[in-house]
Amino acid sequence: MTLTAETTINLDALIVATAREAALAAGAGAREAFLNPEGLQTEQKAGFFDIVTVADKAAEATACKIIWSRVPGSRILGEEGGWQGEGETTWIIDPIDGTSNFASGLPFFAVSIAAYHAGRPVCGVIYDPIRDEMFLAAEGRLTLNGKPVESLARAATDRGVELLTNAPYEGARPGPATLESYAEVVDSFRAVRRLGSCALHLAYVAVGRVAICYESKFNAWDIAAGVQLVAAAGGQIAARDADGNPVGTGHDDLSRVKRLVVAQRGFDYQSSCLSRLMEKGAL
Ligand code: IPD
Ligand code: CA
Ligand code: CA
Repeated sequence: MTLTAETTINLDALIVATAREAALAAGAGAREAFLNPEGLQTEQKAGFFDIVTVADKAAEATACKIIWSRVPGSRILGEEGGWQGEGETTWIIDPIDGTSNFASGLPFFAVSIAAYHAGRPVCGVIYDPIRDEMFLAAEGRLTLNGKPVESLARAATDRGVELLTNAPYEGARPGPATLESYAEVVDSFRAVRRLGSCALHLAYVAVGRVAICYESKFNAWDIAAGVQLVAAAGGQIAARDADGNPVGTGHDDLSRVKRLVVAQRGFDYQSSCLSRLMEKGAL
């Protein structure tokens, strides 16, 4: 079927409204569980450093239910449920990004939902239910709680800015090469912060709270919405696959992305130590 322009606009509007509704509902459940954590059941996934709680599963179920009720022709990749459903609209969901924070009582986590139709990105939403902040990319525009964002430009070089990153990663002893690369990062940036939510790291770069972010060892659901936010803000995105080759961050490439730098538009990425480390495949 060929969609008319009007049908496409109506469908996109429905998808965006659904993404917002699903993120708000999933976030409300996560917030409730965070504020009342007595008896919260937790299990290990890949190891002691990788956990899931009943609240993660409940938040994902909430989001999926809303999506299928509003957009029945949807296939969903959820962190907890894997691929489910069939249809031309694809959704990628991280129901609670920052589960370790969440389960520890640290109020820094978010719901992340990206939507595509026939492979075309339609929207990305990241919702922080503690601060009640909704970061949304749709129609090429970035909004925070419904208002357009004027991203404040930070300094342009490593020396003048903070880096958000998940390096060094949990679960394995970093080898000498990784430690050497991390030493270079610590020696280069004004400060290095590991806040524990990849999605919020990316959202914070998009809105200009931070100039640059580096992540690795993630899955598609960690970055799907965040890269849409950064793109809508006109930010820089440098992604590499497992072999160190540059790769896109669209619908078809997302699962191949293994290392990612995002930076504000005015940041001099070529002069950054991260540009060299990405080239070398280090860190
Ligand atoms: C994790 C967080 C963490 C990042 C990991 C992610 P989860 O997601 O974003 O900051 O370092 O790579 O897997 O497990 O809390 O959804
Ligand atoms: Ca995650
Ligand atoms: Ca998660």
